[in-house]
Amino acid sequence: MGTLIKNGTVVNATGSQRADVLIQGEKIAQVAANISNDSHQIVDATNLLVMPGGIDVHTHLDMPFGGTTSADDFETGTIAAAFGGTTSLVDFAIQYRGQTMRHALDEWMKKASGKAVIDYSFHMIVTELPDAGLGDMDVMVRDEGVTSFKLFMAYPGVFMVDDATIFRALRRTGENGGLVCMHAENGGVIDLLVQEALRKGHKAPKYHALTRPPRAEGEATGRAIALAEMAGVPIYIVHLSSADALQKVREARDMGLPAFAETCPQYLFLSYDNYEEPGFDGAKYVMSPPLREKWHQDVLWKGLAKDDLQVISTDHCPFCMAGQKELGTDDFSKIPNGAPGIETRLTLVHNGGVRQGRISLNRFVELCSTTPAKMFGLFPRKGTIAVGSDADIVVFDPEKQQTLGLKTLHMRVDYNPYEGTVVRGAPSYVISRGAVIIENDRFVGTRGAGQFLKRGPSLASTL
Ligand code: URP
Ligand code: ZN
Ligand code: ZN
Repeated sequence: MGTLIKNGTVVNATGSQRADVLIQGEKIAQVAANISNDSHQIVDATNLLVMPGGIDVHTHLDMPFGGTTSADDFETGTIAAAFGGTTSLVDFAIQYRGQTMRHALDEWMKKASGKAVIDYSFHMIVTELPDAGLGDMDVMVRDEGVTSFKLFMAYPGVFMVDDATIFRALRRTGENGGLVCMHAENGGVIDLLVQEALRKGHKAPKYHALTRPPRAEGEATGRAIALAEMAGVPIYIVHLSSADALQKVREARDMGLPAFAETCPQYLFLSYDNYEEPGFDGAKYVMSPPLREKWHQDVLWKGLAKDDLQVISTDHCPFCMAGQKELGTDDFSKIPNGAPGIETRLTLVHNGGVRQGRISLNRFVELCSTTPAKMFGLFPRKGTIAVGSDADIVVFDPEKQQTLGLKTLHMRVDYNPYEGTVVRGAPSYVISRGAVIIENDRFVGTRGAGQFLKRGPSLASTL
């Protein structure tokens, strides 16, 4: 006996069709019109969309950062992801200075295993790269399926590395097949602006944004791409927020360079105006890069439609206002950077992208599932509804209305950036490797059922 999804519209990145989907065990066994019922468990998808489960390639669960730890762990965070239709995520393990990548991976495996309810993997954050570290990179790619590395051009004294380190890492990926993901903001300039602002007594949350100008992101994005060009390898820019940075990616792509980038819903739906909310409420939106003036949103949407941006991830990094964000009540630079979003990505992008006519349904699937899978070595196991692929499926009701907010959402954080926003389009069923895990707005999955995904090389060169 299998599970048969009947009467839905199957939506892949490449096209849509009316078809039934038969799941046997953990895999998709058949995609065809009118598959006979036999004795299968039936999921009725009449008037619903049957899409590959969302793949979120940028999350921070249980991450020590800014003097505290992100509020969702691998249990609460992956349950929230599942409610939102995400069935795989790629989080980050941190190789701190003086530590090996092996140690970092072991630590993050401990955090996730036995807790995650959906499949997961890790990028490796690299904070230094001595000669031994180069060998560590090879081992990660070859033996552990950790085929991507995040480096930071910002957060001096914490994560920031210099250009020589970046260049070394990039060159090594040319040999071992890994992919460098870059946090592209000019950390030196930002640090100076922050110190100046604090000296002037500018302490409110909005100064977080005012000391991280779009040009600082544009400059670093251009530099990162130039370093990758000199190394002769692809590069992936994370959480791109501004027209300035997008222009650098577009110019590079127009020249034929393999430069890729993701943006996140917060940069498409929120703006600098949120920092002007009364009192300390602007702290809810303190993240890096910061929210930009509203006009950047249209530029990003055009980038998504034209494939200058290839992926939408969340950068989910939640901190409660109480006890966490309030660490920066008297100093914006002490507000932990990050915001929640793991649960709201599909519904927000569907509502604001597909329903508003900015992107097609197929492009929606491509941005939120198929290209993330290809970019990070999970395709075709994940990211498509096809025979032989994992049965990671979201049965999505494009008309279902939801009011986003603390009452309806499941992330373990005491505010939501979209509180009160009404959206249309939400999952009805979510299936992870053949098991129904969300049904009728209830979680019916199992703690610890999520498996670590050893990833293959990026398929970026085919994109
Ligand atoms: O503010 C953010 N983005 N927090 C998470 C860490 C990072 O830089 O991605
Ligand atoms: Zn970052
Ligand atoms: Zn991040």
